[in-house]
This record gives sequence, C-alpha cells and structure tokens, in this order.
Amino acid sequence: MPDFLVIGSDGMLGRCWTELLARRDIDHAGTTIEDLDITDASALSRSVTKGIRWVVNCAAYTAVDDAEEHQGLANEVNGYAVGRLVERCRAVGAKLIHYSTDYVFDGTAAEPYPVDYPRRPINAYGRSKAIGEELVERSGIPHLLVRSSWLYAPWGKNFVLTIAELAKTRSELRVVDDQRGRPTDGQRLAEVSLGLAERGHAGTFHVTDGGDCTWFGLATLVAALVNPSCRVEPCTSAEFPRPAPRPAYSVLDISATEAVMGPMLPWQDRVRALLGAGR
Ligand SMILES: NC(=O)c1ccc[n+]([C@@H]2O[C@H](COP(=O)([O-])OP(=O)(O)OC[C@H]3O[C@@H](n4cnc5c(N)ncnc54)[C@H](OP(=O)(O)O)[C@@H]3O)[C@@H](O)[C@H]2O)c1
Repeated sequence: MPDFLVIGSDGMLGRCWTELLARRDIDHAGTTIEDLDITDASALSRSVTKGIRWVVNCAAYTAVDDAEEHQGLANEVNGYAVGRLVERCRAVGAKLIHYSTDYVFDGTAAEPYPVDYPRRPINAYGRSKAIGEELVERSGIPHLLVRSSWLYAPWGKNFVLTIAELAKTRSELRVVDDQRGRPTDGQRLAEVSLGLAERGHAGTFHVTDGGDCTWFGLATLVAALVNPSCRVEPCTSAEFPRPAPRPAYSVLDISATEAVMGPMLPWQDRVRALLGAGR
C-alpha cells in the first residue's frame, strides 16, 4: 500500500501533490475521477484501504458559478462524499488532509479571518465546502483541514495563467478591484501541507502566499511580466455580474501557520517565479 493516496490527482492541486511526492521520493498513488469518484461509496472502499497512512483529498467540485445551479451536486462532492471519506479513513486507520476555501467566509471582515472564525458562506460553492469542513472537524479522526485561496500553478485552470494568456494578445484588460484576498502558489501549498503533516500538526490551518491584493492588483503584476504594453484597468464586481456572489474581503489569517512553518513568501515573488521572471 502507498504511504500517501492523492485523490483528484489530475486537478491543479492534485498534480502539485503528486509532483512533490515524486520529487521527494515518497511512496504514493494518485486517483482521478475515472479511478475513484468520491461520491461512489463502494469505489471509496476499494481505493481507500488498510496500509495507506495519509489520504490527501484534492478532489472537489470547484466551478464556483456553476455551483449556483448545481447546489445538489456541489454538496454531494464537497460535502457528503467528504463525510463518507472521513468514515472510510477511520475504518482503515488513515489520516486525512482535506482542502477548503476562503469562500466559507462572508467577506464582511476588515481584518484577516482567523481559523476559528464562524463560517458564513455567501455562495453555493462556499456552502458546499462548509458542509465538508464541518464533517471533517466533527469526525474526530486525525486530520489536517487546510483552507486556502486564489490558487495558481503552472498547470490547470487558474487566474494567473488565464490573465497571462489574455495579456499576450490584448492591449487592455478590465479586472475587478473590489475583492481582496491572498493568492496561493499551489506547489507551495502542497509543500507546506506536507510539512505540517510531517511535523505532526493536526486541525485547521490557513495556507496562502504572504501579502494580499485585489484581482486587479494580481492581474496588473501578471500583465506587467508577460506584456507590459497591455494596460490593466480596475472595475467593480457590479460591472461584471456573475452567478455566484464573491466575498469582498477574504484574506485568511496565516499567522498560526507561519508560526510553525516560517514566513510565507509574498505573492509577488511567487508569481514572478512562476512566470519565469524571478528564477
Ligand atoms: N482553485 C482555487 O482557487 C481554490 C481556492 C481555495 C480552495 N481550493 C480548494 O483546493 C482543492 C483543490 O482545488 P483545485 O483548484 O486543484 O481544483 P481542480 O483543479 O478543479 O481539481 C479538482 C479535481 O477533482 C476532480 N473531481 C471532481 N469531482 C470529483 C468526484 N466526484 N470524485 C473524484 N474527483 C472529482 C476533478 O475532476 P474533473 O476535472 O474531471 O471534474 C479535478 O481533477 C479543492 O478542495 C478546492 O475547493 C481551491
């Protein structure tokens, strides 16, 4: 049996995990939705078996806008299936690393959200992730519940790569400047999660890059790195209505994580490194 089972291994974060474990020569296996659909209880029993030390759940329904129309499916994947995964981990004695999101908060705070701040999601995706969080928290099994935000990586569908592509061909982009959060390098997220696990930490942690910004701020740096002649203009969320409302402020308090893992590098440094300007 592998030491680590990465579920959702072909997603953005799942791939960060499997590449990290391969680099570190740690015994692991990965499953895609074809191998293991987490909503299928019998598939869970077949894949999550005795001898696995850690289950890393990177599988999720992540289409934030679509979730408004498909709340039932989002709840099933991000909520109730996580509850069954927890029970399966309990049955085989595996520890669980599970991921959640800044979108479990309502966005009305004026300072970073501490890990124990009450969940009050304002969209369907956030509500579905909150169900999963509660089931993990209440389970009593050994776990790490890691909340993160605004993920990017060298692969997968993410804002940094999308803006980088758009900026190559457009002379102007308009990006919302009234949502503030913390971008997160997915590769670093996997490394810090593994570090927390290896050091024996348990419970809820927030893991993001250092610093914060708006989507406009993030896009401005990305465009400057790939095509300085592309102008980025700020706009409001009201000018770009989307099915799912977004929290206006979703900066996660990472101080407890930094206390054990050291300071997180500023998002600007990580984005520069990703786009090749800082290596
Ligand atoms: N992306 C962000 O900005 C962000 C921010 C905060 C937190 N998070 C959290 O971080 C975690 C990883 O997100 P990500 O960005 O890596 O997501 P992602 O790229 O969308 O990957 C999710 C993976 O889960 C798979 N999946 C969907 N339904 C499944 C099911 N029923 N059974 C098994 N696999 C299933 C998807 O397969 P298909 O592609 O085939 O559907 C995909 O491979 C999630 O818990 C997410 O909530 C993400």
